[in-house]
Amino acid sequence: MELTRGLLIIWIAVTLLSQNSSNVEGRNHFHKKQKNKRPPPKVPSPQAPVSPSPAEPPPVPSDPNNPPYPPPAPSVPSDPGSNCIFDVTAYGAVGDGSTDDTEAFREAWKAACQVESAVVLAPADYTFMITSTIFSGPCKPGLVFQVDGVLMPPNGPDCWPKSDSNKQWLVFYRLDEMTFTGSGTIEGNGEQWWELPCKPHRGPNGSTLPGPCDSPALIRFFLSNNLVVRQLKIQNSPQFHMKFDGCEGVLIEKLSISSPKLSPNTDGIHIENTKYVGIYDSVIGNGDDCISIGPGCSNVDIEGVTCGPSHGISIGSLGVHNSQACVSNITVRNAMIRDSDNGLRIKTWQGGTGSVTGISFENIEMENVRNCVIIDQYYCLTKACRNQTSAVYVTDVSYRNIKGTYDVRSPPIHFACSDTVACTNITMSEVELLPHEGELVDDPFCWNAYGTQETLTIPPIDCLQDGEAQSTAESSAYGC
Ligand SMILES: *[C@@H]1O[C@H](CO)[C@@H](O)[C@H](O)[C@H]1NC(C)=O
Ligand SMILES: *[C@@H]1O[C@H](CO)[C@@H](O)[C@H](O)[C@H]1NC(C)=O
Ligand SMILES: *[C@@H]1O[C@H](CO)[C@@H](O)[C@H](O)[C@H]1NC(C)=O
Ligand SMILES: *[C@@H]1O[C@H](CO)[C@@H](O)[C@H](O)[C@H]1NC(C)=O
Repeated sequence: MELTRGLLIIWIAVTLLSQNSSNVEGRNHFHKKQKNKRPPPKVPSPQAPVSPSPAEPPPVPSDPNNPPYPPPAPSVPSDPGSNCIFDVTAYGAVGDGSTDDTEAFREAWKAACQVESAVVLAPADYTFMITSTIFSGPCKPGLVFQVDGVLMPPNGPDCWPKSDSNKQWLVFYRLDEMTFTGSGTIEGNGEQWWELPCKPHRGPNGSTLPGPCDSPALIRFFLSNNLVVRQLKIQNSPQFHMKFDGCEGVLIEKLSISSPKLSPNTDGIHIENTKYVGIYDSVIGNGDDCISIGPGCSNVDIEGVTCGPSHGISIGSLGVHNSQACVSNITVRNAMIRDSDNGLRIKTWQGGTGSVTGISFENIEMENVRNCVIIDQYYCLTKACRNQTSAVYVTDVSYRNIKGTYDVRSPPIHFACSDTVACTNITMSEVELLPHEGELVDDPFCWNAYGTQETLTIPPIDCLQDGEAQSTAESSAYGC
């Protein structure tokens, strides 16, 4: 029964595909297989992710007119309006946790891509292992990639196929109206990547050794619009868990992301060059930024997020290598940050231009957080960065109802603004932070920061200057 239905779906899919191979990825794929030519076509953008490169030629026959699966006899009219399910097990996925199921996922994707509102299903009670894969569009709208079982990459650098990019694992590329969801788990198998001797303190005797250190981001969305990511459990990523670049319209909700506190560079959600993003009702614990917002982001709304352990919610770093960065209209509300190295952070490098403007942090609870509120315009990884005269301009930043406890190893409030480009219009209202343990740190730090306190801040800050800065950037917001 189950098998018959699966075969039927495959047959429909194959028929559709051979009748209407408008999908570029699919077409390329078939050409590639027919000519058995390698390497596969590169994705057509200089910034594009590295192309998928299966180490072995696929074992299945390749002629689309001669599908590898026996086409069933009955002719059923296809109904692209209904939710067609493309179950990867019907495409040969084994799901025993060790068999390489990559080809089955690619075939299921390729078929589903042709059908409106199709579902690529990785069913419950299976553990699928696939290698680095780019799931490309354009596809028909409404495509759903649903993981109800476990989906994971090869276990660690030694098992990573040499021909695959080690900078990314799952990539979703050039899609519109796509949903990534499921009741299952994306298991990153990150442990061996975190232990590479090049990672901080992972060499012999706690040293850090030089050498290439690339580790894959687990899930990447690239040049795609109107995305929904919902409900999944995503854990133990080798590097960033989830990354969005060049996207517009992203809704993330009810996610659970977790990696250990000491896993290096495992940012939870990173966005850059991405606009109109909502991140809601999610729980993130990891070894780096909980959420990081890079250059080119605007209209980002974050609400109901719990972070910890983590490095907090971060805007930046911005302006590296004298680049221009524009970030605007970011709201973070009703969030909880606990056991974190930073709370709410804006970090920019010396040099650089652009601006960070219209940032609102409201109703944030802190528990045992270092640097609860920090603007750092001297961000530098080597401690050897020269001071420069240009800087990303930080303005219109408000902190309202920020309460809780801080880790006394660093002051809870720290505004280190550029010497030449002051931070302006910082509003503080009901910011009340107490030591988690030990003595009050009574010296909040401010340098070249202007703004107002609507209520008395705890600990008191007397360094936030009233009035206009002497040397503020032009109101053109520094080129943005
Ligand atoms: C690590 O430290 C121990 C004790 O200090 C020393 O004997 C050993 O040689 C060190 N190993 C390396 C690889 O540096
Ligand atoms: C700010 O972003 C929100 C979405 O988070 C959007 O609804 C709103 O219109 C934006 N405001 C401005 C002034 O662009
Ligand atoms: C850069 O400027 C800051 C603020 O004036 C100062 O504290 C710091 O020592 C300077 N750093 C260098 C490397 O000159
Ligand atoms: C200061 O920033 C707030 C947002 O925090 C904004 O509403 C207000 O217009 C800004 N004031 C000035 C004088 O730019």
